[in-house]
Amino acid sequence: MAQVLGQLPRSTHPDLLVGFETSDDAGVFRLNADTALVQTVDFFTPMVDDPYDFGQIAVANAVSDLYAMGATPLTGLNIVGFPLDELPPSVLVAILRGGADKAAEAGLTVLGGHTVDDAEPKFGMAVTGLVHPARIWTNAGGQVGDRLVLTKPLGTGLLTTAIKRDLLDPELIALVTAQMATLNAAAAHAVRAVGAHAVTDVTGFGLLGHLLELTRASGVGARLRFSDIPLLPEALSLAKQDVVPGGTEKNLAHVKSRVDFVPGLNLPEQLVLADAQTSGGLLIAVAPGSCAALLEQLEADGVQAAEIGELIPGERLEVVL
Ligand code: CO
Ligand code: CO
Repeated sequence: MAQVLGQLPRSTHPDLLVGFETSDDAGVFRLNADTALVQTVDFFTPMVDDPYDFGQIAVANAVSDLYAMGATPLTGLNIVGFPLDELPPSVLVAILRGGADKAAEAGLTVLGGHTVDDAEPKFGMAVTGLVHPARIWTNAGGQVGDRLVLTKPLGTGLLTTAIKRDLLDPELIALVTAQMATLNAAAAHAVRAVGAHAVTDVTGFGLLGHLLELTRASGVGARLRFSDIPLLPEALSLAKQDVVPGGTEKNLAHVKSRVDFVPGLNLPEQLVLADAQTSGGLLIAVAPGSCAALLEQLEADGVQAAEIGELIPGERLEVVL
C-alpha cells in the first residue's frame, strides 16, 4: 500500500494537520483555532456468523481510530456491500441495526450511507470526530523510557479464523465477539484523564506492526515482555495448531527483520504478536511516572489493561520472555 500511496500527489494545505503519509490512525483537518475534524473509514467482510454482532464490531472497529487520535465521535456514514438477490433483507437489517446501536453507544449520529450489490457482504463506516488541534494524540510523541500499555488481549485474528473453520466453542465465540464489539471509549477516557505521549490502536497490522509505526514515528525502539502481554484464551494453542489467518503470517514476514525475539520465543509466539486484530485495543506510550496512574484510571473505567514493555533507544523491537 505504501508503494501505491507513494505514487500519488501529496495533499498540501495549511490546515491539514495529519495526512496519510505518517501512517497515523486518521486524517486531521483544522477548521479553526479550537476545532479540527478527524476522519477515517473502515469496512470489511464478516468475521463472525451473527449479522447483528458483525454490524456492532464493524462500527466499533471504524470508530476506534477516532478514539486513538483523542477525538470525540460526531457523525458516521454506512458503507455496505450486499448480495441483494442471494441473502434475505433481514440479514442486512440485522447488520445495520448492530451498526446503528454501536454508533449510538459511541455518540455518533448516522447521517446515511451507500449500498452496492456485491457477491460477499461487506460493512463498515466512514466516521468523523472533533478534537482540539492542540490535543491530538498521534503515534509520534513516544520518548525513551515511556511505558507501553495495551488495553485489549491479542488473538482476535486467530480466534475468528477458528470460528470460520468451526473449531471454536460457543463460550469463546461469545468472548471474542464481545471483546471486538467493545468500544475503545473508556480507554480513551482514561488516557485523556492522565495524559500520554503517543497513542495508536492495534488493528490489521498486529501489535508488532502498529508498535513499529509508533516507534518509527517517534524515533525510538521498544522492548516487549512476552509474559506480560495479555492473550485471549486458546490464541497461542491455535497458533501452535497452525490455525493462522493469512494476514497474520504476512504481518510477521513484514516486520521480522526489525524484531529481535529472545531464544525460546518460537513461531507460534511470534505469530500471536503479529496477529491481525479486528477492533483491537489502544497501545499507549506513557511517561514512567504516570503509568501507575494510567493503569489505575483504566481499571476505574472498567478497562482490563496491562503494562507490556517500554520504549528504548535505537530503532529495533526486542521481545524478551
Ligand atoms: Co488505527
Ligand atoms: Co483504520
